[in-house]
Amino acid sequence: MTNRSTGHTARALVAPGKGILAADESTPTMAKRLATVGVESTEEVRRGYREILLTTPGLAEFVSGVILFDETIRQRTGDGRPFPAVLHEAGIIPGIKVDAGTKALAGFPDEVVTAGLDGLRERFTEYVELGARFAKWRAVLRIGPGRPSPACIEANAHALARYAALAQEAGLMPVVEPEVLMDGTHDLDRCAEVTQRVLHAVYDHLDRHRVVLEATLLKPNMVLSGTDCPEPADDTAVAAATLDVLRRAVPAAVPGVVFLSGGMTEEQATARLDALNRQQPQPWQLSFSFGRALQGPVLRAWAGDDGRREEAQAALLHRAGLNGAARYGSYVSAMETSASTV
Ligand code: 13P
Repeated sequence: MTNRSTGHTARALVAPGKGILAADESTPTMAKRLATVGVESTEEVRRGYREILLTTPGLAEFVSGVILFDETIRQRTGDGRPFPAVLHEAGIIPGIKVDAGTKALAGFPDEVVTAGLDGLRERFTEYVELGARFAKWRAVLRIGPGRPSPACIEANAHALARYAALAQEAGLMPVVEPEVLMDGTHDLDRCAEVTQRVLHAVYDHLDRHRVVLEATLLKPNMVLSGTDCPEPADDTAVAAATLDVLRRAVPAAVPGVVFLSGGMTEEQATARLDALNRQQPQPWQLSFSFGRALQGPVLRAWAGDDGRREEAQAALLHRAGLNGAARYGSYVSAMETSASTV
């Protein structure tokens, strides 16, 4: 019963032409994002900014779900409506980030494991009451000499599986996010090799923990050359390498793959999602769960000035529409400067 309904949530989140807005930055990360446009982070500033995102008229055309942070899921609009209720009314599914961030992995310099399993069953109960219908947990893997270590991959895959099983027990659909960071000098092949190893471990642990794959989504990195790679791969090579890895490692029972943007520019994220969707058919929907690649233009348009609310919302709708087009493989870069995305 529970897993049938969370399977429905997974499929609804990857409905054609739509994807997820990640608006679940922790308080320190949100402070960094706000600082890029010269805005000081206070609870009221964060609330007001998130209200702009969530009340964007027409957002449901391209955005199926929004991932919220613990602070955000408890906040309200200026006229007193709880954020999750605003989303439900708009036909957008509220989700919640439940991990507690990364901690140093003892004995493994420069490697981390994600915390947050303690008390998670009880927190899930509360998040369901607050209106969440899906959840997210992010693991972080870094490429470097001898990294990620097998121990780091195992620890993170195990935590993802424990989280996903608890989410399903609570009736929430788990988004499983193992992120291989793009930082480094490595090439495309090295990222492909590491991403494939990580995904194999993740699906092994999900299976051992009896997670129902039909009621999950995968949120991975695209397979990219490192940010400091001397010969960066182009979008076609990125799409081909990403699909090779996914086909080898992600069971067809998973309804969708919702990529993170991970530091790609807004245009790169959209163009690469588009390149991926030009390669059809695939066993899964190929969609987005972008944070920075959706919010960048909104932050720049708003920059802390509530008088620019409409421009900020127009920027979000435009960017979301471009990614909506990329879901069909029908994005072209000329759309970047046109007022309409249809
Ligand atoms: P980015 O798209 O900015 O990587 O954020 C997505 C996300 O939710 C990371 O956990």
